[in-house]
Amino acid sequence: MINQKVDFKIEKELQEAILQEKRRGTSDLEIGRRFGVTFRYIERLITKTHGLNISTLRVSKKIKRLHPEDFKEEQTTVWSFKQRGNWATHRGEYRGNWSPYIPRNVILKYSKPGELVLDYFCGAGTTAVECKLLGRKCIAIDINDKAIELAEKNVDFKIASQHLTFADKESRLEVYEPELRVGDARELYFLQDNSIDLICAHPPYANIIHYTDSKEGDLSFFDLDDFLKEMSKVARESFRVLKPGRQCAILIGDTRREKHVIPLGFKLINVYLNAGFKLRELVIKRQHNCKTTGFWYENSIKYNFLLLAHEYLPIFEKPKATGLLNTKERGLNYGFVTPTLKKSLLKRRLGKLETTTVWIFPANNFEERLNKNVIDRYSDGGGYSTITFISHNSRESKFTKRMEKEKIKLLFIKSPFLSNSPSYSNIEYYLKEIKKIITQQIPYINKDGFLVIQTQDVRIEGYIEPLAKRVVDILTLDNLWLKEIIVATQEWTDSNSSNSTGYLKIVHQYLLVYEVRK
Ligand SMILES: C[S@@+](CC[C@H](N)C(=O)[O-])C[C@H]1O[C@@H](n2cnc3c(N)ncnc32)[C@H](O)[C@@H]1O
Repeated sequence: MINQKVDFKIEKELQEAILQEKRRGTSDLEIGRRFGVTFRYIERLITKTHGLNISTLRVSKKIKRLHPEDFKEEQTTVWSFKQRGNWATHRGEYRGNWSPYIPRNVILKYSKPGELVLDYFCGAGTTAVECKLLGRKCIAIDINDKAIELAEKNVDFKIASQHLTFADKESRLEVYEPELRVGDARELYFLQDNSIDLICAHPPYANIIHYTDSKEGDLSFFDLDDFLKEMSKVARESFRVLKPGRQCAILIGDTRREKHVIPLGFKLINVYLNAGFKLRELVIKRQHNCKTTGFWYENSIKYNFLLLAHEYLPIFEKPKATGLLNTKERGLNYGFVTPTLKKSLLKRRLGKLETTTVWIFPANNFEERLNKNVIDRYSDGGGYSTITFISHNSRESKFTKRMEKEKIKLLFIKSPFLSNSPSYSNIEYYLKEIKKIITQQIPYINKDGFLVIQTQDVRIEGYIEPLAKRVVDILTLDNLWLKEIIVATQEWTDSNSSNSTGYLKIVHQYLLVYEVRK
């Protein structure tokens, strides 16, 4: 008992000393080194004592500029911001907050000045600040009263004319003060049906970062399945309050368990689709703080894993009541899609492999570099086979049957026909064939070998068919374990060139890496 009291006293003193250092602005790294505590420990202590999860206690909110310099709207499906953005009061001290470039792009693309934007996971108020700057009305709610207090400070600034560019002054936007309130995203009872022009929100991810000290209703404490169940209430409410024909953008990332990936992004997309939404865009948001050299490089090869370096920004749309689509894209009819099989032996070279989940290669040797990375990383010097889905117009379909008896280490399925506007029926056929082929081929893959599927999203009649998600949905075989979801894209020099279609240009593909377990 006495010992417990002594321990308690020591721990209290330790915590007070840590908080004092935080107030002085000492870095977490230095605090960890000095007091022998982990980053997690410091994070929990701050959340407990301050009621919210912030990295820095002393932050200057002095405004240097109100808008980002050289901002251009994103035009493709890969969004990448090297700096997180520190214009207006954006400082990034709230943990897990999103870069203001994301809501800025979404707001500019999918709403007009004077329209009403809802963010039901307000956090430090990044979306609300952007709405104020861009002349949109905003309702932002958060379960945590302390987060709302911080957001109130962040939206409390004047739009002084010395901070405005000539173009801003010319456009003479009306300023609307955001409405911030404590509330629960699962119960938007105070909002009428069909009353919101745009939803733009960034949920906590299933039990990854905790935002409160276990406040009731804080979704950051729910584990995967419960999190998705609760998010289905949020999705239903979103569908109810959004006006027909309007958009709802949600940022979500994957997570890892036991060195395998949990496709949280695709699972959450299903939750919103089940609520009645259609998928208008599926944007990949790159993360830039990933280490790819030295220690990380060696361990990525040694333990065969990639650092998660992307998140998903699905942009859903509530269909118009008539069900009529305002765009019609022509799908080519290919006849059958035929897989062909090729088998080779490999010389494995491990130099210069990609170490994160985002692979970017020059356009002139994109396919070659992608193949090299897949084969060098996943064939482990053993044999590999590729199956390629090509298209042709003849009515004959001849599927290659495997004749060889020896086992391979890697089966690589490629689908180049997808880049040529396939039709719905091509896609349904492709998915059925993929499942059939994989079931047939698995016995020929070594234990601990890999199956890699290269696929991509396609747009049909104005909506995205998210094929990587659909493949993950159908491959529920017990002996396949999803190891990585990799995004591959070409070096894109002109990503901001304008695009008048109203849709983003799809510039990324996926590699779904499955480990074969027997
Ligand atoms: C990822 S953060 C949002 C960060 C925000 N985009 C920003 O830039 O500051 C998720 C937020 O959801 C809040 N939250 C958790 N459960 C909630 C719920 N049931 N209803 C509303 N907000 C909730 C957390 O308090 C946290 O502030």
